[in-house]
Amino acid sequence: MGIQYNGTKRMFKLDTAGTTYIIGVTEEGYVGHVYYGKRLRQFGGGYLMRTQEAPFTPSVNQREKNSFLDFFPMEYPTGGIGDYRESCLDVRNSAGSMASEIFYESHSIEDGKPALEGLPASFGKADEVQTLRIVCKDPVLGLQVILLYSVFEKEDVITRSVLVENTGEEHLRLEKVYSACLDMENREFEMVNLCGSWARERHIKRAGVRPGKQLVSSVKGESSHQEHPFLALVTPETTQETGEVYGMHFVYSGNFIAQAELTHFGYVRMVMGIHGDEFSWRLAPGEHFQAPEAVLTYSGSGLGKMSRSLHDFYREHLIRSPYKYKKRPVLINNWEATYFEFNTEKLLDIAREAKKNGIEMLVMDDGWFGKRNWDDNSLGDWTVNEEKLTTGLPDLVRQVRGLGMEFGIWFEPEMVSPDSKLYRAHPDWAVQIAGRTPGQSRAQYVLDISRKEVRDYIYECVAKILRSAPISYVKWDMNRQLSDIGSACLPADAQGELFHRYVLGLYEMQERLVTDFPGLLLENCSGGGARFDPGMLYYSPQIWCSDDTDAIERLRIQEGTALIYPLSTMGAHVSDCPNHIVERNTPFETRGNVALAGTFGYELDITKISEEDRAQIAGQVEQYHRYHGLIQTGDYYRIASWTDRKPYDCWEVAAKDMSEALVTFVQVLGQPNMHSVNIRIRGLDGGAGYRLEGTSEVYTGEELMECGFIVRDVKGDFRSKLYHFMRE
Ligand code: DGJ
Repeated sequence: MGIQYNGTKRMFKLDTAGTTYIIGVTEEGYVGHVYYGKRLRQFGGGYLMRTQEAPFTPSVNQREKNSFLDFFPMEYPTGGIGDYRESCLDVRNSAGSMASEIFYESHSIEDGKPALEGLPASFGKADEVQTLRIVCKDPVLGLQVILLYSVFEKEDVITRSVLVENTGEEHLRLEKVYSACLDMENREFEMVNLCGSWARERHIKRAGVRPGKQLVSSVKGESSHQEHPFLALVTPETTQETGEVYGMHFVYSGNFIAQAELTHFGYVRMVMGIHGDEFSWRLAPGEHFQAPEAVLTYSGSGLGKMSRSLHDFYREHLIRSPYKYKKRPVLINNWEATYFEFNTEKLLDIAREAKKNGIEMLVMDDGWFGKRNWDDNSLGDWTVNEEKLTTGLPDLVRQVRGLGMEFGIWFEPEMVSPDSKLYRAHPDWAVQIAGRTPGQSRAQYVLDISRKEVRDYIYECVAKILRSAPISYVKWDMNRQLSDIGSACLPADAQGELFHRYVLGLYEMQERLVTDFPGLLLENCSGGGARFDPGMLYYSPQIWCSDDTDAIERLRIQEGTALIYPLSTMGAHVSDCPNHIVERNTPFETRGNVALAGTFGYELDITKISEEDRAQIAGQVEQYHRYHGLIQTGDYYRIASWTDRKPYDCWEVAAKDMSEALVTFVQVLGQPNMHSVNIRIRGLDGGAGYRLEGTSEVYTGEELMECGFIVRDVKGDFRSKLYHFMRE
């Protein structure tokens, strides 16, 4: 188990419970990729090192070095020396040339896993994870490149990252530092990605890999609504339960690239890292650069297994919040209820009615500070608007808590409105290029949080509010993407560092927040779900999925999100109808059932909704209390997909000990002349009997899994039902 090294063959074997990853070192010291796939008990296979290809290997004949480099499966390819595929590392020397070539020097294997300086990263105890460091050197540049592999046995995950150190005398410039590469023989691979836009984030897309490069990326300064730092290569027969899947996911919240490149020799190079556009990093002698972490997983039994491996991995080894397995309070957020038009009395009216129906926390969203009655002012002025909160914030919190509820608050710390005291005092604190007027988006600028004084100031504004009253929850929002990339503080030759320094600044601020307020429940958000990524999960156990709260639109958004993230991370609320974004009317019950797949809460004016809808809230809240533990810790199975052209959507969460399973079925559109639907339940004990809650019907696990369960009571458009099976 874990990591083994065969010194005679110069090969490393990295084992998880179900997978094996093999790395080999050539005679010259190139670190090559040999195998990633199903677990191998034994491996003697030096024959798999692709060093014997025609025409020659470098050690035999230097003349053909380029053709060797253009084919050899590399663990970490470098640019400028003849491997014409995508490189992972581009380094420019002080004479202006771009080339690097790294060779194996030494390695070490240790129990546990080191933290990554300044970056979110997975963690684990000494008996849960082992780490391999392969130290490589470029003797010409005096560059040391350490390839880090951490093997999480139980979850079938291997994480990778890279530390680049300038151990020479020359000033160097890093122009690209990716985090992971996987070179594999093409098996008619298809690429699975999550793509979308504002209000329709993370829809699943799948397409065959064609010759050349296909990528998803962001150059917006955040992981983005549009594309997602995730890539899976799957064999063509892949379904939820069959097929081979290679998943790669990036623990980072800024610009990224995730790319598959099919070469002329029928090999696929899969890479992931910080996007090379507008990235450059000075590396003086003695300095180092730490690249973020990439998470790799292999499944030989379809996409479902990949989802469950990643869910377990993120729950156990990335999310740190004390709330990760704690019941999150059922909240009511006033955004869709009031937008900017609220005051103390309105909030208290909502809170009183919410409390009557079992809701546990009031969250005050945007609009409580400065003179903010619309979105075009006051960001940066984090002082309470006493025209709205007439008795002040501590008094409002006191009154809400007096009702027996907790209180939460919204901030957008990274932004500044041109119409704000902060901007008037410090116009240079906005990200901007000298001599150009920066573009506004949602009438706001981005604060240059690469600067310590800016971070300190803003952090203190947030902390001061949090110290002023017992506030249990913070929603940290970010409502625009970065442009006009320039910092008033960085020297000319360091402007290319701003994107990454911005992300490091963000991480530093969030680290301070969760350290100084350890009991706080933090929810990240970015104009909906534009910064839903593993990097943010390190700080907040939940992230707002999307501004689209329509139950039917949410099916696709939540299916895509749940492909790689645990359900307990997906911010999901029941909102009012007609839905504010798509103007669709859906039954209140379905809105509740769909939000139950996430963190569950409300976002509506509970004082104004119909009596009939309001009457359902207490039951929904009670349902949440009953099932939240299962949803938070269970195994997720995607049973049927509306995205995949089925007229219905169906997912399931099964307890790890197989004692219960909760199935959600949503009939999207009613169909004429149709009969009942058979769905096959997953993750049960075949030999046990299961009773369907609310009935006396008992089925065997085997029947439910092999023959299926018959859904015959869900008719009409947008109707849904939960089925809870309990082991007898
Ligand atoms: C975008 C968020 O996604 C919304 O939930 C809300 O908080 C608004 N911003 C407030 O401006």
